[in-house]
Amino acid sequence: MSPSIEARQLSKSYGQFAALTKLDLKIQGTKCVGFLGPNGAGKTTTMKILAGLIRATEGTALINGVDVAKDKRGALASCSTLIETPEIYPSLTPKEALSMLCEIRGVPRGERNKRIDEALARVKMSEWENKKVGGFSKGMKQRVNVASTLLSDPEVIILDEPSTGLDPRGMSEVRDIVMSLKDRLVFMSSHLLAEVTEVCQEVAMIDHGKLLVYDTIENVTGKFAGGGNAVEIGFAGGVDEPLRLRVSKLQGVSSATRSNDRHLIVKFDHAAVTQDKLLELVAGLKAGALTFAPASGLEDAYLSLIKETL
Ligand SMILES: Nc1ncnc2c1ncn2[C@@H]1O[C@H](COP(=O)(O)OP(=O)(O)OP(=O)(O)O)[C@@H](O)[C@H]1O
Ligand SMILES: [Mg+2]
Repeated sequence: MSPSIEARQLSKSYGQFAALTKLDLKIQGTKCVGFLGPNGAGKTTTMKILAGLIRATEGTALINGVDVAKDKRGALASCSTLIETPEIYPSLTPKEALSMLCEIRGVPRGERNKRIDEALARVKMSEWENKKVGGFSKGMKQRVNVASTLLSDPEVIILDEPSTGLDPRGMSEVRDIVMSLKDRLVFMSSHLLAEVTEVCQEVAMIDHGKLLVYDTIENVTGKFAGGGNAVEIGFAGGVDEPLRLRVSKLQGVSSATRSNDRHLIVKFDHAAVTQDKLLELVAGLKAGALTFAPASGLEDAYLSLIKETL
């Protein structure tokens, strides 16, 4: 089977400036893949080429094995993208805006209402379907935008920074929607490493137009996060010094640092203790551990990878 998303030696230059250099990437399966990299790294450029919005200078972009440059319609038949989305016209309702998009995208007339209802339900905007978009918050508008990517029932969804510019509530709404799309491939750029850790199973990191790594989050953090892994553990009753000490003495733990009143960043040696074993050990302390996420590990890996290429 062809990869869902594939870049072969993909390059893009603007005059003398190389925005993307020989990018090779193959993504397959149903999962969420985070696309990370500093400002100007080439994320949007890559996504625009995949979406057929701009042409690569060299190389090939394929969606489900179809070359985007040669057969854009065929390549994008099962792929939706959300890249630099224009504002929805404020006097339209979500239903009207999505109906127009169905028409533009050639969704069969008989299926339109069903698709629109399903898409709006997925982003929890059904009750707002007949209200004017002009009065919506940014988060609600973005939910309608995400709904617009679902109209064609795509297998592959490409989202360029879907939660940027949203308040914490808006971000969490978008995060929940992306997590509900587990039955598809979502390729999503983001600067929010905590979000990526929560939502994605794999990450691709890019800098100066070159791919640095593409792997599972666990492998990326294992390989690049300062020689070990780091997890952030939240405790219901907060973290005091005796608790921090108890955690720091667990098997394989190299350091335990308070990140705030309720959280500890725990670095551990992957060879001495696996992440699931560490979770068991922390639970065994019966200290009210509530959350356990490999958040700062990705941050650590990101910083060491990006630093290396400065
Ligand atoms: N139309 C253009 N003309 C000239 N240079 C461009 C053009 N579009 C993008 N670039 C340059 O290409 C590089 C990559 O840009 P791109 O938008 O892909 O980065 P990005 O990874 O999406 O960054 P950000 O995180 O800020 O969104 C940047 O240096 C940018 O200035
Ligand atoms: Mg960008």
